[in-house]
Amino acid sequence: MIAIFDSGYGGLTVLKPILELLPQYDYLYLGDNAKAPYGIHSPETVTEFSQKAVDYMKGRGAKLIIFACNTASATALSKIKDDKIIGVIEPSALEASKVTKNGRIGVVATKTTINSAAYEKALKRQNKSLQIYTQACPLLVPFIEEGWHTKPEAISILKKYLMPLKNANIDTLILGCTHYPIMLKSFKKIMGRKVKIVTSGEITAKYLEEFLKANPELEKSLGKNKTRTYFTTDNPEEFKRFTENNLGMKIKTPTKINL
Ligand code: DGL
Repeated sequence: MIAIFDSGYGGLTVLKPILELLPQYDYLYLGDNAKAPYGIHSPETVTEFSQKAVDYMKGRGAKLIIFACNTASATALSKIKDDKIIGVIEPSALEASKVTKNGRIGVVATKTTINSAAYEKALKRQNKSLQIYTQACPLLVPFIEEGWHTKPEAISILKKYLMPLKNANIDTLILGCTHYPIMLKSFKKIMGRKVKIVTSGEITAKYLEEFLKANPELEKSLGKNKTRTYFTTDNPEEFKRFTENNLGMKIKTPTKINL
């Protein structure tokens, strides 16, 4: 089966388009809600948390793992070094480098992701001449998790975060955090029509499709019974509620586990 891992709920914004594009496979989703948010922790701590999650998912039979969490992709992926783990940073950086016209790209993400410079490095790998403007947005995840993301307070904070990027005349903005697509409408409204917004979900789904085509042996070994199993390290009812309210996804109540 394919496992999708996130610090909590946010990875569902990646799971959703994956299920739409590649529904035939068996999927496991693991949200480490008890330790979220990851984005305020050190790279070492995030790596430790992620390693435990990887061990658990492999123990459950995961043949391929997607780190839907940008913070884990930015910090733990290079430490864990496993070619059966796909992160979200490389696919988004590739897409942004393709769509930009003026070569000026903005990245918004958690503090830990921004401090890691993982997006800058990934974008520069695509094209050295790109100009990259980054902005950590630490207050957005708590607002979204509280369901307060449409309130004026959240919008005014978002405007403050985005103003320097608008002033930098970027034409492409990467939402480098799983939660931010939940505020996509507000991002679009503030940045205006001329700025192309890149979110991880659909891009990672397409990347996964290509990856499976390029790895037919692995593809053959994947279960294709359309099973979906959800695990959380915190309150399963809360998880189900958040998923239904914010992503409009009906899911089976997750199983609570300890990592
Ligand atoms: N999943 C995290 C990310 O994409 C956001 C939430 C957190 O900080 O745990 O960076």
